[in-house]
Amino acid sequence: MDLFEYQARDMFEAHGVPVLAGKTATTPEQARAAAEEIGASSGGVTVVKAQVKTGGRGKAGGVKVAKSADEAQQNAEAILGMDIKGHTVGTVMIAQGAKIAHEYYFSVLLDRANRTYLAMCSVEGGMEIEQLAVERPDALARVAVDPNVGIDAAKAKEIVEAAKFDAETGAKVAPVLEKLWGVYRDEDATLVEVNPLVQTEDGDIVALDGKVSLDANADFRHPDHATLEDKAAADPLEAAAKEKGLNYVKLDGDVGIIGNGAGLVMSTLDVVAYAGEKVTNGQGANPKPANFLDIGGGASAEVMANGLSIILGDAQVKSVFVNVFGGITACDEVAKGIVGALDSLGDSATKPLVVRLDGNNVEEGRRILAERNHPLVTIEATMDGAAAKAAELAAK
Ligand SMILES: Nc1ncnc2c1ncn2[C@@H]1O[C@H](COP(=O)(O)OP(=O)(O)O)[C@@H](O)[C@H]1O
Ligand SMILES: [Mg+2]
Repeated sequence: MDLFEYQARDMFEAHGVPVLAGKTATTPEQARAAAEEIGASSGGVTVVKAQVKTGGRGKAGGVKVAKSADEAQQNAEAILGMDIKGHTVGTVMIAQGAKIAHEYYFSVLLDRANRTYLAMCSVEGGMEIEQLAVERPDALARVAVDPNVGIDAAKAKEIVEAAKFDAETGAKVAPVLEKLWGVYRDEDATLVEVNPLVQTEDGDIVALDGKVSLDANADFRHPDHATLEDKAAADPLEAAAKEKGLNYVKLDGDVGIIGNGAGLVMSTLDVVAYAGEKVTNGQGANPKPANFLDIGGGASAEVMANGLSIILGDAQVKSVFVNVFGGITACDEVAKGIVGALDSLGDSATKPLVVRLDGNNVEEGRRILAERNHPLVTIEATMDGAAAKAAELAAK
């Protein structure tokens, strides 16, 4: 889960990372009130910042300095409702205005390729860090971080030296990096990025922007993280699936997909997309995958039924492809789930299902489906055959 900047700011503050005062607003009037309060300690100067989960807000006009509460209200009026890279701004943060002397860059992230954590740091921060990384990679220090040690004082010193900070500034920045590591470790993040980390004219080091991604696999350790979820943005089908403990991602095609095991589901998406390319009805058919849904290993009839009801609830779905390779999952359980779901849906089940079963207890699974002989169900022997059939039915 990616956090909004204001959520990252709050998290930083809770972990002792120096940040500036900030308050969210969803109307220009609220922004004015927030600016009156927050600007009091910074000579009336505040910055109105669009809260959207994408970078480059500054360049897009979503970060605007205000010298008065009046101006903050006007800025909020301009920024609220703005579209930034497909994200509509519904909330702004009114932040205390900083007098920036220098802008730096720091991030720590999960480096999957090298099976470690990676810290990146540069004395040249600000808005163009992606460009910097491409054009002058030397200016961006990359330092591996041992997960068992993290960023302690010695590692922080190594990072600031690699980033070529002068000794005095480096000594000020290093303790902030240790605190940011604290956020990364204690919150189970996969990314903590600060761009810019600034030095103010008074010589203070402050995190002016924050990007945090949290590892959903560690949610069980962080019941408090549930409150950070952006419920308004969640897809209703994804939310319903999550409630049922299903691994579901909504996509934009017409062929609903259910499989067991993430690898099998990924390849199912591929074969369906491929089969879909060959099918067209000249009427805007979109026989591509409508979703990713992995019912997991050892799935019961109930899990199968839950998955099917989510997919049949997707108005965009025109056909469903159930692709199960029984390992721990027994095919007869899957078949019972399909029959059970269709029977409980009764007349409201109107979409054709193409089923490919193989592996553990496949004979019994096929027997159950054949015996029920449901008019909506087609059994196919191969994955490619089933994909072609599902795509064809979706285009009908
Ligand atoms: N509180 C602030 N005070 C002064 N300037 C700021 C403040 N917040 C951001 N800025 C300036 O705006 C730029 C862009 O803001 P930032 O929060 O980094 O958004 P983004 O990275 O999405 O463009 C920063 O690089 C900084 O120069
Ligand atoms: Mg930034």
